Amino acid sequence: MSDGLSRPAPDKQARRSSTRLDNYVDRYAARTRGMTASEIRALFAVASRPEVVSLAGGMPNISGLPLDVVGGAIQDLVRTNGPVAMQYGSGQGDPVLREQICDVMRLEGIEAHPDDVVVTVGSQQAVDLVTRIFCDPGDVVLCEAPSYVGALGVFRSYECDVVHVEMDAHGLVPSVLREAIASVQASGRRIKFLYTIPNYHNPAGVTLAPERRQEVLEICREADVLILEDNPYGLLGFEGEPHRAMRADEPDGVIYLGSFSKTFAPGFRVGWALAPHAVREKLVLAQESATLCPPAFSQMAISSYLRAHDWQGQVKQFREMYRERRDAMVAALDDMMPATARWNVPDGGFYVWLTLPNGLDAKAMLPRAVTARVAYVPGTAFFADGFGSQSMRLSYCYPTPERIREGVRRLVGVIEEEMELRETFGSGGHRLERGYEAPNTDLT
Ligand SMILES: Cc1ncc(COP(=O)(O)O)c(C=O)c1O
Repeated sequence: MSDGLSRPAPDKQARRSSTRLDNYVDRYAARTRGMTASEIRALFAVASRPEVVSLAGGMPNISGLPLDVVGGAIQDLVRTNGPVAMQYGSGQGDPVLREQICDVMRLEGIEAHPDDVVVTVGSQQAVDLVTRIFCDPGDVVLCEAPSYVGALGVFRSYECDVVHVEMDAHGLVPSVLREAIASVQASGRRIKFLYTIPNYHNPAGVTLAPERRQEVLEICREADVLILEDNPYGLLGFEGEPHRAMRADEPDGVIYLGSFSKTFAPGFRVGWALAPHAVREKLVLAQESATLCPPAFSQMAISSYLRAHDWQGQVKQFREMYRERRDAMVAALDDMMPATARWNVPDGGFYVWLTLPNGLDAKAMLPRAVTARVAYVPGTAFFADGFGSQSMRLSYCYPTPERIREGVRRLVGVIEEEMELRETFGSGGHRLERGYEAPNTDLT
């Protein structure tokens, strides 16, 4: 008699459990072909060993958070509003938090209405939802070269065609953007949006110059290209006031993404999208089908923290801590790195982009670096097209200044060995690839 559940016959069951091969390989949807573990993910297991100095991961350093204050706010929340906090919430997100998000964005010149904010599960989910509502397979997404690995993963999973646009020390190069748009449009393909990280770029460390922001807005307005402005690091600049967001000057042509992951803590998984009104409606529908609603508990906990704590003072502390680490990394690179390597000096955020001396390959070198107990992310992780092998991303956000110096010392040892090997055995024929291989190392 059937119990209504279809179970595999015993021999099949045995076969399934006796092999580690994927029996479902021919059943996955075509779009999963683009889903492969990122180079960063594969690295985490190794890089998290205590003996390895990890300059790889971009984990925010939240050791300075006042845990007693956060704990108090959460306790208070459970006591006074627990049943609401632990219930399903609105698909668009908590209205009180959305108002507070508007106050946060005002620091970057944005005047927005809470109705146009959609709370998401980190800004990562916002990238996913925007791509989901805009992109069909084969649609073009313009991205900086290099670009954020997590966004590239999303674009790949929706089978978008990523076209990289060169950056230099001042961010995206407007003339190249104009050419890229013209060339894609001439080929008859549809550009769905430009994905850009204007402030303290991940992974390149550069910031889009204020005068270029206007140019980029103009180019996209003329060509009718939507901009997806991803800005998780905007309040983490080391000098002066926060940069004016592009969204502040173009409410209709820009979707702005923000996050509490870097200014508070990533574990709450709360980010947001600010979108033109009609787009916001679609985003809410997409959010509801993805998660029903973003977690009410996290949103309300963040809301109490913002209300009860000097959160801007906390962000200032974070900025000082990251600046000290940036200084440690740049000083170590200046002191020890061979003169033929090049890197930039970021004025905010978490990352330095380093280009190796000619002929060296960061990906090929990585196993030797890990053996020497230092980890980084090879540049190829940040390109959709396999470029970037001569570069690497170095993160200074997490280790102490002493560990950063030690990490750079180990890395320099590995690079010097590679250079010696190359001198002994000759060139592998590697050369700087394409214009955008070394976009942002020439920061003087
Ligand atoms: C550029 C960029 N965008 C988005 C994210 C995702 O952040 P979250 O989902 O934690 O808000 C990150 C995280 O590192 C990032 O660097």
